Amino acid sequence: MAYTDFQDFLTRLEREGELKRIKACVDPYLEITEVADRIMKMPGGGPALLFENPKGSSIPLAINVFGSRKRMSIALGVNDIEDIACEIAEMLKPEVPSGLLNAARELLPKLGVLAKMPPKHDKGDGRCQEVVLTGDDIDLGKFPILHCWPQDGGPYITLPLVFTNDPNTGKRNVGMYRVQVFDRNTTAMHWQLHKVGAEHARITAEKRQKIDVAIVLGGDPVLTYAATAPLPPGIDEMLFAGFIRKKPVHLVRAKTVDLEVPEDAEIVIEGKLDPSELRMEGPFGDHTGYYSLADMYPVLHITAITHRKNPVYPTTIVGQPPMEDGWLGKATERLFLPLLKLTLPEVADMNLPIEGIFHNIAFISIKKRYPGHAFKVMHALWGLGQAMFTKMIFVFDHDVDVQNLKECIWRLGNNIDPERDMCVVRGPIDVLDHASRALGFGSKVGFDCTRKLPAEGFNREWPDVIEMSQEVKTRVNSMWSSLGLEGLG
Ligand SMILES: Cc1cc2nc3c(=O)[nH]c(=O)nc-3n(C[C@H](O)[C@H](O)[C@H](O)COP(=O)(O)O)c2cc1C
Repeated sequence: MAYTDFQDFLTRLEREGELKRIKACVDPYLEITEVADRIMKMPGGGPALLFENPKGSSIPLAINVFGSRKRMSIALGVNDIEDIACEIAEMLKPEVPSGLLNAARELLPKLGVLAKMPPKHDKGDGRCQEVVLTGDDIDLGKFPILHCWPQDGGPYITLPLVFTNDPNTGKRNVGMYRVQVFDRNTTAMHWQLHKVGAEHARITAEKRQKIDVAIVLGGDPVLTYAATAPLPPGIDEMLFAGFIRKKPVHLVRAKTVDLEVPEDAEIVIEGKLDPSELRMEGPFGDHTGYYSLADMYPVLHITAITHRKNPVYPTTIVGQPPMEDGWLGKATERLFLPLLKLTLPEVADMNLPIEGIFHNIAFISIKKRYPGHAFKVMHALWGLGQAMFTKMIFVFDHDVDVQNLKECIWRLGNNIDPERDMCVVRGPIDVLDHASRALGFGSKVGFDCTRKLPAEGFNREWPDVIEMSQEVKTRVNSMWSSLGLEGLG
């Protein structure tokens, strides 16, 4: 099931009719964005695109490879992303096996899956190191790096897997943080305040040292997804990727920095960053649909670029939703639901709509058991990793289909007395939120859209939802053809 590399994934997409090749010369300066944006806005997300002749570069560019539920599933090697969610739920099941023999029988296959997960450390060069560029040969200009939107501060590497190690523990982190190109061998590093890469940099600053960074492009698409996943700090994204692809990720030592990188990557950019050296980064047309404003971010000095002999440059654009990154987010919504249920078993389902850019709006359904239960769930989410960024949480009863936005709006409009059912809190906010009172700090709101209990001060009668009886429905079904309404209703 696992892909041998990014190009193997592209071959699979093409075989499935999910990839279109573009031979025409299209400019990475704005033009590719306009083409890709029109395609991403198509119903169902359009196809993935392979620009074979991007202007000014001999390296082909792939975009929108994750841009639909189907391609996201193909990327993760399953029929549907829900399959992985089921597998995770199965692994987390707190079974109490009867007897020692049963315990062994039930646990061993699960442990077998786990044993396949840890990354393997290969000796020698990886495929990502077929070409090694150092010194004056380093030149980011040879890659078709997109200048995405008119007001962007420059060209941006938009699908980077940023590898760093915790300077205290040596534990690896991989996050996706956009990279603005300043010149042939210097970039910015947009790891936001709350992200693990930024914490690694803060620890490094305390030690008055520099931090080694590797920016990886490509590899099995599972690796790219893993870089975006909100894993707790200390959980290795490469272990998580190994779990999803059911095969270990193979790593090799980078050439000029003290890090390991996936041997199957297309391109690796190695560099060193002094956390105290800051430079203006941005603006950047962001996934909020607005430009994120320019601000000071650290500078990365590139020490080597390694790549395959014939690499493909993977990229994306973000902007007004829906965009490709929405599907990476949907995968997270599905894969992390079983993990959420581990701490919040009352949660039935959640929907983070793509238009809510994932952390702006969350619709959650719960099996409500006690007064204030909906508020407890909101507070738990605001205290849970990157769910802390959720600006608006709407909590419904378990029988509400939160995947159906029409039902959500109907229920929430009816079921709330705003003063009683609304809870406003203050805390950390996504750095990209331009409406909050300060960068990274502001307020969040939760709405209890559940049926109210007497102990919540509700002493009126709660009305039933209007529904026809099953008996009448069956009777009308059987008379439908005699009504002259075929094909209607
Ligand atoms: C396309 C894309 C671009 C992203 N760009 C950034 C970025 O520039 N900075 C950032 O801090 N997070 C960015 N993110 C979100 C992080 O990748 C995400 O929060 C991830 O879980 C961070 O990993 P960490 O917890 O290891 O820091 C981006 C996500 C996607 C899908």
